[in-house]
Amino acid sequence: MVKLIINGQKVLRLKIITNTKVLSTSCLFLVSLNLFSSDPIAYLNTLGYEPAQKEIAYSKNGMVTTQHFLATSVGEKILNKGGNAYDASIAIAFTLAVVLPRAGNIGGGGFMVMYDKETEKPYSIDYREKAPAKSHQDMYLYDDGSFNKEKLSTFGYLSSGVPGTVAGLWEVHQKFGSLPWEDLIEDAIFYAENGFYITPYMEDILIRYNEKMSFFAETRNIFQADFPNFKNKKFFQKDLAKTLKIIAVEGKDGFYKGEIAEKIADDMKLNGGLISINDLNNYSPVWRDPIISTYRDNQIITMPPPSSGGVHIIQMLNILENYDLEELEHNSIEYINLLSEVMKYAYADRSKYLGDPDFYDVPVDKITSDHYSKKIFESIDIGSSKKSKDIHPGMFMDSESHETTHFSVADKNGNVVSSTYTLNSTFGSGVVIKGTGILMNNEMDDFSAAPGIPNQFGLLGAEANKISPGKRPLSSMSPTIVMKNNELFFTTGSPGGSRIISAVLQSILNIIDFEMNLEEATYAKRIHHQWQPDILEIELSIDDKIKSELEAMGYEIRIRRPLTCIQTIMYKNKIYSGYGDFRRPDAFASGNIND
Ligand code: DON
Repeated sequence: MVKLIINGQKVLRLKIITNTKVLSTSCLFLVSLNLFSSDPIAYLNTLGYEPAQKEIAYSKNGMVTTQHFLATSVGEKILNKGGNAYDASIAIAFTLAVVLPRAGNIGGGGFMVMYDKETEKPYSIDYREKAPAKSHQDMYLYDDGSFNKEKLSTFGYLSSGVPGTVAGLWEVHQKFGSLPWEDLIEDAIFYAENGFYITPYMEDILIRYNEKMSFFAETRNIFQADFPNFKNKKFFQKDLAKTLKIIAVEGKDGFYKGEIAEKIADDMKLNGGLISINDLNNYSPVWRDPIISTYRDNQIITMPPPSSGGVHIIQMLNILENYDLEELEHNSIEYINLLSEVMKYAYADRSKYLGDPDFYDVPVDKITSDHYSKKIFESIDIGSSKKSKDIHPGMFMDSESHETTHFSVADKNGNVVSSTYTLNSTFGSGVVIKGTGILMNNEMDDFSAAPGIPNQFGLLGAEANKISPGKRPLSSMSPTIVMKNNELFFTTGSPGGSRIISAVLQSILNIIDFEMNLEEATYAKRIHHQWQPDILEIELSIDDKIKSELEAMGYEIRIRRPLTCIQTIMYKNKIYSGYGDFRRPDAFASGNIND
């Protein structure tokens, strides 16, 4: 056991890591890709962050990767205590709710995809938020039917869905947990009560979101009391510690019934929110059959609706399987052209056919069928670009016939957990429920407020994703496990709103088609096209010549700062490897797990 300082934070139980080789190999690798310069490194330098991850982490006995190194160390501690991947995931989720309050949560929801070694079966659980019973489809519209511009779906009490996180984690513990529930919340309580050092990255986020986090007094007193002097300060969440203690003793009822539920319902009522005590009492997560498919002899296990991610990742892989991608070369003009065209068709379908399967008959089989992908494949012409206005949802479908954080854990017995959960925007709705420390989500914005009205990620929706009481909003979160010959190959996932789907897709292609290692697959630049708006996004920079050739094909190109963050664990020759994405510099993978 060694002590390590990451971003000023003392972390126990992590291996000492050196920083020498990594950046230079990444530079060489990126230069050899010809499209991009070595600017991820320059990007990090200009921001003045030190990424927690310096090199690939390796271990025989398990691996943890999360968006905050303290949560990673808690996951390792649980595995070292003899806990399994499910126990570690629960402890990580509670810890992230404290140390990564912009996304980690108990006031939000998410999805978890699992591979259970004992039963040799994949599982997935949907612990997504639900629309409150008093919600209705016109709740974000003016009386004349036009969209209310006051940001009601993204900010404040009216933007929250009924949270699912605590119920989801409880359910996973009931089915697969091995250590006592309260042991899994201990570290989260410790960091909430005793505080933890604010990293430079968190400091920047707190400053950037000062306006949002100052509007409500309860939120301001917790998050902005030290504004703008966060440097070298500890961050305390005493009320949240009390709430977590109640959940540790009472289990899920500690959140959905009794004192905490009453505080949520009272605060909602007082401030025009809709979540009632009945909504909380009635919330339950759902075990769903994961979507399973093959891509070049690998088995892909991913999240079904109300995530759209799994469906469209499989749809896009089916189309791309018709090509020799290695031949096209990673991030070459032809490759970017092909990926963008494929993405346009998938996101167009998303806008019409995807929604909560408990409310809308989502044509999953059709969208993921070989027959349908073949038709889309036949319509794509490498060397040209179809305007988004000429692509419609379901164009080739037969007429009879839709701030987040990710963590992954694998244990020594071969159990694998891949989970993405969220408050939606950074710091969710900006509302902290009085006296509880619970930061609430703004997940209601993931519904389609009205046809033709894009949500905050520019996504369009229709009937399938309209607001309805008890319904879950459509999501892009795509926790995914890839197996090969009945063994884990890798597991991955990311935050990033609509960009999650394209980031997870590219992470799969980078590893399977381009045989990249984890560091390379993480550093490789990502592109994104979501049909509408008709824009091809490229991370950080693009070579002038490539830009003009793509523009000549008709693409409108926008350079974006990195907006996703993949957390991947790989398994090869009986060794796990892990890598935390530099795009959120506190991300960290580690596998210092004892025998
Ligand atoms: O479920 C979804 O698709 C969105 N609420 C995810 C939001 C997100 O990833 C924001 N993080 N960067």
